[in-house]
Order: sequence, then structure tokens, then C-alpha cells
Amino acid sequence: MNYEKAVEAAEFIKSKYDQEIKVAVVLGSGLGAFADDVENAVSIPYEEIPHFSKSTVEGHAGRLVLGEVEGVPVAVQQGRFHYYEGYDIDRVVFPVRTFSVLGIKNLLLTNAAGSVNTDFGQGSLMLIRDHINLMGVNPLRGKNDERFGVRFPDMTEVYALEYQEIVLAEAKKMAQEKAARIAAQTGSKQSVDYFVRRGVYCGLTGPSYETPSEIRMLRFQGADAVGMSTVPEAITARHAGMKVIGISCITNMAAGISDDIIHHEEVMEMGAKVAETFKELLRRVITKLN
Ligand code: HPA
Repeated sequence: MNYEKAVEAAEFIKSKYDQEIKVAVVLGSGLGAFADDVENAVSIPYEEIPHFSKSTVEGHAGRLVLGEVEGVPVAVQQGRFHYYEGYDIDRVVFPVRTFSVLGIKNLLLTNAAGSVNTDFGQGSLMLIRDHINLMGVNPLRGKNDERFGVRFPDMTEVYALEYQEIVLAEAKKMAQEKAARIAAQTGSKQSVDYFVRRGVYCGLTGPSYETPSEIRMLRFQGADAVGMSTVPEAITARHAGMKVIGISCITNMAAGISDDIIHHEEVMEMGAKVAETFKELLRRVITKLN
């Protein structure tokens, strides 16, 4: 049934934009600005797409933007559906199912996250190496539809290693170019701020942020960052054989690490602060994918 629904949604999207889409991008809280850079854009509000839900979170626009980034046809989800909004997990991952039916091979997931690893500062980016699913749900639960993928999909390499290398290489180039620009302006050599680090993302349902004790526990369990999204979409994409990239924008230190309390406004503001760097990294990475 979900398959037929995804076909319906895919047919609708194709009727609005008939290019072969190479990459689907999901933009997290405060990171929506990237969609404004899509060229020759066709923008579809989620309400118009069959079986899509409505985005209810502040900071999530709720539309699918189709068009080109550096000439590469993309589908950009400006706003996603979260489990904490009350949707069934099927609805949360429905856009990814639709992308897979559209034949899109690459999925770039982004999110805002709190840093569990004290080395990852506010405003830095974390390339997701792997995830820990503590959401208490799995989007593949229920009768398996073989048209999407197998019953028991392997999750050894959810985030494609070959793409991780691309992201790190592009980030490094950006950092070096920035250092060279500063050196040219000031005449003095600067050390290169290598602003993307690899880490493990832990997905929790939210919507409450974590307690300091939970964060301490998660650190011992191997998490570097925490957030309320991404994991269900990544599992669904791997099930469908898509290649996945995950990038977290570290918007705050997780609970108990600093004396500050965490609020959504801060998460949104930090997203806006890193927007330029973040957008450039995405642009560069998109041109390098197969
Ligand atoms: N915890 C969970 N989700 C988040 C956080 C956090 O600290 N920051 C942004 N999303």
C-alpha cells in the first residue's frame, strides 16, 4: 500500500518536474536557506503532493524544491516530518520512499544536533560516520514490501564511505582556500580550521531535550551528537539501496556540558550562522556524487 502511495506521489512530482533527479537533500532545522539557491526551481508545498504530510515545526518551510544546483538536478526537502510531531513513522519516511520510487540514488540528510562530544564546538559540522537508533521505532517494522528492499537489510555501512571521503575532501579544500584568502589579506599565515569532523549521531524521539544524565550515558555508549531526526530516513534509504550522506550542524552543546539551557531559538540561530559555509559545502559535494 505504501508502495502504491509512493508511486502516486512520484508521478505527481514527475508531472511538475521531469528531469532525472540525481540527489535528494533533506534540510534540517534552521538550514532551509539552501533551498533558496536552487536554480530554475519548481517549488511544491507538501499539501499538494499526494500522501505527504504537513510540516508543523517552526523553521521548517514545508515544501519540496526541484531544480538544479551547479547544473545537477536535485530534489530538496525544505522541512521534514519528525516522529515527535505525532506522525506514524511511515509518514516520517514517506518522502524518502517517494525519492526511491523516483529512482533517486543519493540522499543527503542534514540536521541540527547537540554535541555530546566536548571536542565538537557550537557552529561546527559533524559528518555522520554511523548512527545509534534510540527512537524506539524502526521504519521497516511491519509487512515488508520487496519492491522497496529486503526484509532484513544490512546496516554495516549506512553512510557511504566513499561519499564520506568526498565530504571531508571538500571541507578540507574549503578550509585551505579560506586560510589562503586570509593569508593574502593579512600577509600572515593562519592555521587551517578543519571544521568538519566525523562522528556518531544518536537519534532520540524528543521533543524534550535530554537530561545531563542521559547525555553522560550516551557519551559512554559512543554517541558524538544527538538529534531527533535522520535515523528513520537513513534506514529507509539504505533499505531501498540508496547511498546516504549525513551532516549535522552542531547548534548547541548537549545538556549538562555547559551551564546554558537549550532552546529551539538558539538551534535556529546557529543554523543561520553557519548557513553560508554549510551551503557551500553542500553545493560542492553535490557536484561530486555519482
Ligand atoms: N538534543 C536533541 N536534539 C537537538 C539538540 C539537542 O541538544 N540540538 C538540536 N537538536
